[in-house]
Amino acid sequence: MRVTDTFNAVAGTYDEERRRLIPCFDAFYGAAVEVAAPPLRAALAAGRTPEVLDLGAGTGLLSLLLAAAVPGVRLTLVDGAPAMLARATAQLDARGVPHRTVRADLVDELPPGRYDAVVSALAIHHLDDAGKRALYRRAAAVLTPGGVFVNAEQVAGPTPELDRRYDEVWMRRIAELGASPDEIAASRERMRHDRPATVTDQCRWLAEAGLVDVDCFFKEWRFAVFGGRAA
Ligand SMILES: C[S@@+](CC[C@H](N)C(=O)[O-])C[C@H]1O[C@@H](n2cnc3c(N)ncnc32)[C@H](O)[C@@H]1O
Repeated sequence: MRVTDTFNAVAGTYDEERRRLIPCFDAFYGAAVEVAAPPLRAALAAGRTPEVLDLGAGTGLLSLLLAAAVPGVRLTLVDGAPAMLARATAQLDARGVPHRTVRADLVDELPPGRYDAVVSALAIHHLDDAGKRALYRRAAAVLTPGGVFVNAEQVAGPTPELDRRYDEVWMRRIAELGASPDEIAASRERMRHDRPATVTDQCRWLAEAGLVDVDCFFKEWRFAVFGGRAA
C-alpha cells in the first residue's frame, strides 16, 4: 500500500485525532504560521493577493490556520490522496477561503505560479532524502523574492540513541493525551512509510537550494519547524 492510500483510508477521522498524536500541536503549527505570515502580510499591504502553496496539504490543517491568521490569502493545496483533499475543500469552502486543489505526487513538478509562501506539514518526511532535496530546490524556485518556505516536520534524531528517545517520549506523551491503542497502532502502521531526516541535514539542503536566513524556529523532540527565505 502506498503512503497516500493509507491517508485516503483515514481521511474521515484524520483531523479529530491530530491533537492526540501531536503533543505540541498548537506551538508546532503556530510556529509554522508565524514563519509564513510576514510575506503574506507584505503582499496584502502592497495591494496583492498573497499566494500560498501547501505541499502534502492533506485535509488542509495548515492551510486553514494560515487563512485564519492572514485573511485574504489564496491557497494551492497539493496532495496525492483525493479523500484528504476533498475534506480540505469542504472545510475551506465552508469558510469561504479561495483555493484550488491539485492531486499530484510531491516528486512531480509543482503547480505553475509564484508563491509568497510555500508551506508543508508532516508530509515531506515521506520522501527519500534525494526526493526531499529535489523538492526543496523546486520549492525555492517558485518563491517570490522575499517569499518564505517553511516545513513543520517530523524529524530524525541526530544519533540513534536520540532517535530512540524521541520515540519513547512521543509514545509516553500520546498515551497521556488519550490516544487509543487502535490509534497508536494505525499511526505506527503509517509510520512504516516514514523516512525522516535530521534538522541539520534539512537546513543545509534548504541553504543549498538558495534560501537565506535558514533556521529551525521551533523544536520539541521529533517535531520541528524549519525554513528559510528567498533573497
Ligand atoms: C500526515 S499528513 C499531513 C497533512 C497536513 N499537511 C497536516 O498537517 O495535517 C501527510 C500528507 O502527505 C500526503 N503525502 C505523503 N506523501 C506524498 C507524496 N509522495 N505525494 C503527495 N502527497 C503525499 C498524504 O497523502 C497526506 O495527506
